[in-house]
Amino acid sequence: MAQRGADGRETWTSSTGFILAAIGSAVGLGNIWRFPGVAYENGGGAFLIPYLVALLTAGIPILFLDYAIGHRYRGAAPLAYRRMARPAETLGWFQIMLSFVIAVYYAAVIAWSLSYFVFAFDLRWGDDPRSFFLNDYLQVGDPELSTSLVAGVTIPLVLVWVAVLVVLALGVANGVQRVNIIFIPLLFVAFVGLVVRALTLEGAFAGLDEFFTPDWAALADANVWIAAYSQIFFSLSIAFGIMVTYASFQRRKANMTTSGLVVAFANSSFELLAGIGVFATLGFMAAQQNIAVGDLEGLTGPILSFVTFPAVISQMPGGNIFGVIFFGSLVLAGFTSIISILLGVAASVQEKFGLGQRASAVTVSAICAVLSLALFSTTSGLLALDTVDQWANNIGIVFSAIAMAILVIWVFRKGDVLRRHLNAVSTFKLGRWWVLLIGALAPLYLGWMLVQRVVVLITEGYEGLPQWYLNVFGWGMLGFVVVAAALLSAVPWRGRDNPDFRPWPALPEEPEPLARPDLPRQEETR
Ligand code: PFF
Repeated sequence: MAQRGADGRETWTSSTGFILAAIGSAVGLGNIWRFPGVAYENGGGAFLIPYLVALLTAGIPILFLDYAIGHRYRGAAPLAYRRMARPAETLGWFQIMLSFVIAVYYAAVIAWSLSYFVFAFDLRWGDDPRSFFLNDYLQVGDPELSTSLVAGVTIPLVLVWVAVLVVLALGVANGVQRVNIIFIPLLFVAFVGLVVRALTLEGAFAGLDEFFTPDWAALADANVWIAAYSQIFFSLSIAFGIMVTYASFQRRKANMTTSGLVVAFANSSFELLAGIGVFATLGFMAAQQNIAVGDLEGLTGPILSFVTFPAVISQMPGGNIFGVIFFGSLVLAGFTSIISILLGVAASVQEKFGLGQRASAVTVSAICAVLSLALFSTTSGLLALDTVDQWANNIGIVFSAIAMAILVIWVFRKGDVLRRHLNAVSTFKLGRWWVLLIGALAPLYLGWMLVQRVVVLITEGYEGLPQWYLNVFGWGMLGFVVVAAALLSAVPWRGRDNPDFRPWPALPEEPEPLARPDLPRQEETR
């Protein structure tokens, strides 16, 4: 039986359940597929500096902010923001719509991984993994709005959506939590095994050298910093409304900040581990070809996982086992992340429209499934995916973080009450620096970076793609997110928004300059 809190809301059954689920959301394709390439492209070892700065100045503080909003106002993002301050509901929908867009393409990458998991058994990509991936598997065409479905992608994609639907329909504790309790330890063991194997390959250390050798000049480049911040946001799943939703299912008395530190630490450790594993493997490949690691081609983006890796796997003794574990890990990691996104979207729809849990799970999964089939299992999938990823993560999510900081701290002035909320329930206490960090540093700093990035994308375009294409999949996609957020918040609230909802613990909602940081604990009221 699912557990319910005093307000009837389903809860995770333990803090471990919550932490594993939050780690499951954070550790995903972003760690294995995105991080190594992004780090490599943006200064290698030197990237670790902006990365760590981003983690400490924005990653962990905004993770706490997400947790505080969800835990105090007990709703998926739109409801939680609405309870905090009515007009803020739109921000909740903006974040949820952005997540929705991510889910649509994220599922496609999980589907590719699922196919490659099967292909790895007999190294089906043959001698030319590039041509296999692009021509035989994806059947990539020109940048156009293609409608011809590719069967090899369609089947695994349908499987992914059916699995997501089943887990969501089972609910928070019996579905999502259970999947994470099984998958996350399994993923960890499999991946550690993989990295150990990679480190014993000939040339592994040359690969690590290449990965860690700092290019200090990169630190002067604004694009490198924005890449670090967006990697942190994407990787920790923050500013997407998803951690707001996860925290809303946490019991009232729960040590939130300490859990956040565990999650952030686990996520970054996994990310580094993935970087080490991937580059050790690339070192092996370079040694086989007798070239420097830096001269290898295809070290970033989907090509890294789906072309370069298969090529290495084919050359490795016992490569098929390595391949099966590698692609299996991608599937596990990706799946626990996509269910977090979908839970966020489904819970938002459920609360707003007063649907049942199953009905909203079915509706949302079906819409996402149709869209991802239409957009990403066609011959133009790869380009569309890359473009959407670029705009959603470098612009959409950075904008979301800035809007969140400005609205919560400056417009609705909830920084102090949220800080006191976290302190009342957690053992790791937050000082006023936390409010300051989010309210001042984040908007100024992130704002500056965002402007730089927008200017580059407007003046230089992206990857030489035609402008109309960027207008559809880049700017158009963001426009869709904004319009959808506005419309969804304009629809009258039909679900249960209990008018006598009272946040617990009872704290003055207005900022109180002299209030003591740690209020006496209060008993939970029914
Ligand atoms: N954090 C996930 C990853 O690193 O792959 C991706 C993700 C999950 C992004 C959930 C956003 C989100 F809301």
